[in-house]
Amino acid sequence: MCGIIGYTGKRQASPIMLSGLKRLEYRGYDSSGMAVIHDGKIDVIKSEGKIKKLEEKTDGGKKPIGTVGIGHTRWATHGVPSDVNSHPHVSRDGDFAIVHNGIIENFAALKSELMRLGYTFKSDTDSEVIAQLLCHLFKGDAVKAIRELLKKIKGSYSIGILCAKTPDRLYAVRKDNPLVIGLGKGENFIASDFAAAIEHTHDFVLLGEGEIAELSADSVRYYDADLNLIEKDSYTVDWDISRAEKSGYPHFMLKEIYEQPKAITDTIRPRIQNGNIDLDGIDFKKSYLDSLIGVDIVGCGSAYHAGIVGKHFIEKHCRLPVNCELASEYIYSDPITGSNRLTVIISQSGETADTLAALRLAKKKGSRTLAIVNVVQSAIAREADDVLYTHAGPEIAVATTKGYTTQVAALYLLGIKLAGILGTEEGKRLSELTTELSLLPEKISEQLKDEYVGSIKTLAKKYSNHHCVFFIGRGTDYAASLEGALKLKEISYVHAEAYAAGELKHGTISLIETGTLTLALVTQSALFHKMESNIQAVSSRHGTVLAVASKANSKISSDADGMICIPECDDDVSPVLTAVVLQLFAYYVAAKRDCDIDQPRNLAKSVTVE
Ligand code: G6P
Repeated sequence: MCGIIGYTGKRQASPIMLSGLKRLEYRGYDSSGMAVIHDGKIDVIKSEGKIKKLEEKTDGGKKPIGTVGIGHTRWATHGVPSDVNSHPHVSRDGDFAIVHNGIIENFAALKSELMRLGYTFKSDTDSEVIAQLLCHLFKGDAVKAIRELLKKIKGSYSIGILCAKTPDRLYAVRKDNPLVIGLGKGENFIASDFAAAIEHTHDFVLLGEGEIAELSADSVRYYDADLNLIEKDSYTVDWDISRAEKSGYPHFMLKEIYEQPKAITDTIRPRIQNGNIDLDGIDFKKSYLDSLIGVDIVGCGSAYHAGIVGKHFIEKHCRLPVNCELASEYIYSDPITGSNRLTVIISQSGETADTLAALRLAKKKGSRTLAIVNVVQSAIAREADDVLYTHAGPEIAVATTKGYTTQVAALYLLGIKLAGILGTEEGKRLSELTTELSLLPEKISEQLKDEYVGSIKTLAKKYSNHHCVFFIGRGTDYAASLEGALKLKEISYVHAEAYAAGELKHGTISLIETGTLTLALVTQSALFHKMESNIQAVSSRHGTVLAVASKANSKISSDADGMICIPECDDDVSPVLTAVVLQLFAYYVAAKRDCDIDQPRNLAKSVTVE
């Protein structure tokens, strides 16, 4: 969703905010803007379109002039992307400017009330109501006006505020949306994500729900909802700035694909000691696991797809029934859960609104919750009973790659650990799986060698003009094909469908005609002959088949038009290696089609609204 940055210090705010906004562009990129206080007045520059346009309008950050400012990059929810709907929004007296991420659910009622009082609105956004309401509530003390504002607005938000009457300060509040305070020397920041300020500071404070932060160049004051001053602890983020930059790669997505050996190493290595798995001390007692009647895995998008891979793995090795659900469905299904079900919540960002709501619901119903999350200190990480960080590092491309494979790796760790405690799998088999898991980074490195990548690139170019692609597989290959189809859809705009291969004959096969491309995943030896028949059913209707197979199943090449072999591995962990092939395939199809790979149309990386 939208990205917020704010600065107060001794330097000119605009260039700092511009570079921060570029780091936040993954959160939304249909318009952007900034407001800066200069000579007691608020100057605003904003533009529809990508941040490049704002960069032009601000003359590369030379204007507006001033050392206190707020900036915003937008993903439209209320009102089309346009100059006037872009943030910041300014109050009618020009004294307040605000940037907002989230949704003000009661904005219509508030707007009507303000209009009755003579306020006029320029935009179609829910956010403008915040600026006008602040103007209405201001009686000389900005912090008090903000407290009154919080009593009136409903919904989810993080908000950055400038008040021309306090020209050296900026203010911030949040609820169900991320916002951090960056602590510099003689300067301070607000940001939706610490990546936006990490080139200036590594010290951050997480603003609590309902708290108000008042920042000046030399100090930050925090207030609770009753305006009592409160102390807050800071934490250090040791991410290297280069990890949030492209470092020579044409796109963040390609960089992140290449970071997977390191990312997966960081997920698994610290947790495997002498062949034994320690999940950061998370304690699963055998008596607790014996009491479980099942596990629920909940997530959205690719996190949900990772969950389906996890379901196969955990059911197979732990003999526990696993239900994998989309968070947006789970939260309105009155889920049957309680202390006899473990809920595993998966989210790269740790802030997806539906997933956060699912976590809260599962907790409320008495289920123990374990979050698999990448972003440290994110809402889901903080609220879950236990958290297993994936340590994938910053992921900037909207289409997740290392975020997904590290989630799968974390689920494998969990499955092996639970199977060991439950005694549902022999020790020897668990050791084999642990070894296979630790070998994955090496195998991905093999896949990232020029020759291997080159062969995928050639096939991707060859098939880049197809308008409809099917992905088929069985078992865990079906789970992997869901993610492969999503990757292609997201970044190349090619319509792609994943199908359980056995389902093809129940309808979809009617869509196969001469040349229709089907990617068939064939890594499960036990299901080889079944896949062989499914592939022949496609070929006999003159469809084109590209197989992604394990070495053991490479004889499938005689039935397919092309084949990519994944490195030799245990069938149970193949989805990670298949994912790398399908990510590269989608990437090069999108590149050939000249698509905006890191920022596909209509998408945002972090979806903080329902
Ligand atoms: C968005 C992203 C997807 C991601 C999903 C869940 O839709 O575009 O790539 O899988 O959100 O995000 P999360 O941060 O919860 O894993």
